[in-house]
Amino acid sequence: MEKIGKRFEGKVAIVTASTQGIGFGIAERLGLEGAAVVISSRRQSNVDEAVEKLKARGIEALGLVCHVSNAQQRKDLIAKTVQKYGKIDVIVSNAAANPAVSGILETKEPVLDKLWEINVKTSILLLQDAAPHLQKGSSVVFISSVAGYQPPQGLAMYGVTKTALFGLTKALAAEMAPNTRVNCVAPGFVPTNFASFLTENESIGEYESKYYRGLSLQELNEFRFLFVLNRKVGLFNGNLNVIDDGVERIKHVVQYESKGEITIASIESNGLDNKHDASLKRKSLEEKTLLNRLGTTQDMAAATAYLASDDAAYVTGETLVVAGGVSSRL
Ligand SMILES: NC(=O)c1ccc[n+]([C@@H]2O[C@H](COP(=O)([O-])OP(=O)(O)OC[C@H]3O[C@@H](n4cnc5c(N)ncnc54)[C@H](OP(=O)(O)O)[C@@H]3O)[C@@H](O)[C@H]2O)c1
Repeated sequence: MEKIGKRFEGKVAIVTASTQGIGFGIAERLGLEGAAVVISSRRQSNVDEAVEKLKARGIEALGLVCHVSNAQQRKDLIAKTVQKYGKIDVIVSNAAANPAVSGILETKEPVLDKLWEINVKTSILLLQDAAPHLQKGSSVVFISSVAGYQPPQGLAMYGVTKTALFGLTKALAAEMAPNTRVNCVAPGFVPTNFASFLTENESIGEYESKYYRGLSLQELNEFRFLFVLNRKVGLFNGNLNVIDDGVERIKHVVQYESKGEITIASIESNGLDNKHDASLKRKSLEEKTLLNRLGTTQDMAAATAYLASDDAAYVTGETLVVAGGVSSRL
């Protein structure tokens, strides 16, 4: 990190959802390479803290509250950036939500709306506001996910919204050429807050086997079970009797409803064994990569900085997968 270049000297970069995690890593990287960075997120306290951290590293930073779903806050983000710095060279659209862990057919309409809105629509609306201010030679980078290639069980709808960003990248690259390049980064697993339900618990497969006292995955599939646990509340889609029989970790069943043969239950974990779960889960995710490790925010920042920089001056409409070799074909 000490020997990075200065590819963004004199440039102005907006990174959404950037007070922690991958967004913060990207803002920090662009800033260290000389950009004035405009960071934002929903909470003022997070914005203040992140700006302070950037300034402590000698980075020129402006922090604003911007919930990407809030039209006024999006407009303010653009207007205040232009007011302070006079232009926009780089936009990194990084915000995403994953409000539910369930199968697509069980995903309720408000959840579908929220996923599309935050993960896809607001990126478009932000660019509509920003377009008049984008410089010749400017660059847009969407942060998608390797889940966009192979939407994972239980997170499939989230994955599908990330697939949509691949198409959006192609379409906008054509629409915004030749003045603005549009590219996309598809991260693999990065242990941030966003991914904590993946990186801090056992994998779905391991969890299922253990959970059901040795039933094989095939047997579980025959029972049409799908279980995904996040840190506190999980959704269970299966036969409640089997849950009662096999579960050590459920504190109580919050609610359940029967739909034909299938019972859907919301449960609260009793949080036992979290440490054990974390190391198992992490190991199983690491083993899914060719490089035997999870990604870092710096890995994602380096790829984003490349695409946003003049080093990628002849690259547009592309998605760069940064996932340690995890399979990535549509
Ligand atoms: N981590 C991974 O394994 C992984 C893998 C593939 C793709 N990704 C993608 O990478 C991106 C960033 O994820 P991350 O893991 O870095 O997340 P993270 O560590 O949880 O950080 C999320 C950031 O977004 C802000 N935020 C959340 N909702 C927002 C909203 N509606 N409007 C504006 N800001 C919002 C949060 O601050 P406030 O709470 O203050 O709003 C925070 O600064 C997402 O697009 C995600 O899909 C992540």
